[in-house]
Amino acid sequence: MIFTTLFTSALASLVTAQTPAPYTDVRSGITFNTFQHSSGMFFGLALPANSTSSTDFIATMGGKGTGWSGVSLGSGMLNKLLIISWPNAKAVVSSFREATQYRSPSVVTGAFTQMPIANGTYVNSTHWTYTFLCSKCIQSDGTTFKITDTTASIGFAVNANAPAQKSNPASAVSKHMAQGQAVFDLNNAKSDKFEMWKAYAAAPRLTRSFSG
Ligand code: HEM
Repeated sequence: MIFTTLFTSALASLVTAQTPAPYTDVRSGITFNTFQHSSGMFFGLALPANSTSSTDFIATMGGKGTGWSGVSLGSGMLNKLLIISWPNAKAVVSSFREATQYRSPSVVTGAFTQMPIANGTYVNSTHWTYTFLCSKCIQSDGTTFKITDTTASIGFAVNANAPAQKSNPASAVSKHMAQGQAVFDLNNAKSDKFEMWKAYAAAPRLTRSFSG
């Protein structure tokens, strides 16, 4: 109960501005520069202090209820690296996607991987949170922000309804009910604790379910 209150109030304080702001997850202790949409959908980024040589970041994403949350690491929906996640009972299901048209994006594979961070991945009665090391996720082909960028426009999309096949990471989804862009100051995502947090991550996974 204490945890729920802290969690809700910490995130609630981010709602008004819709500008990414520092948020520390009470379970993992990781501090993210976090955007929160008024629906409860959120996405946070943590980067190494010297991030210009790393293509990795730690992300946290989630929302209220049982619908899906998605982000575009390259701002728009088309021809960008997308990540979509949703809760399935007490687990979280996630996958990389790519769309060449405005329809349910297909699963995409590459060098990039999601490695779940168990102490930051959980589903409670109101919210769900998925925290992961996104390894080799910062690309140089225009599908994501670049390692040399100081700001990144991250696209977000949210739907309050669960996908048709909740246990299948490749499930088709219905169009988002809300979408937009959030500009992240990447300097505010940097931390010298990144290497310690990174060590929390489990083995690489492309697409699957994670229990927190
Ligand atoms: C059936 C599934 C989907 C359909 C039909 C769809 C369709 C569209 C359309 C038509 C737009 C242009 C804006 C508008 O007219 O609303 C758009 C924008 C966008 N979509 Fe999707 N989309 C789908 C799924 C997704 C998913 C799964 C993600 C993320 C993982 C996503 C991320 C975005 C983003 C980031 C934008 C740009 C928002 C902005 O720049 O303001 N979409 N989508």
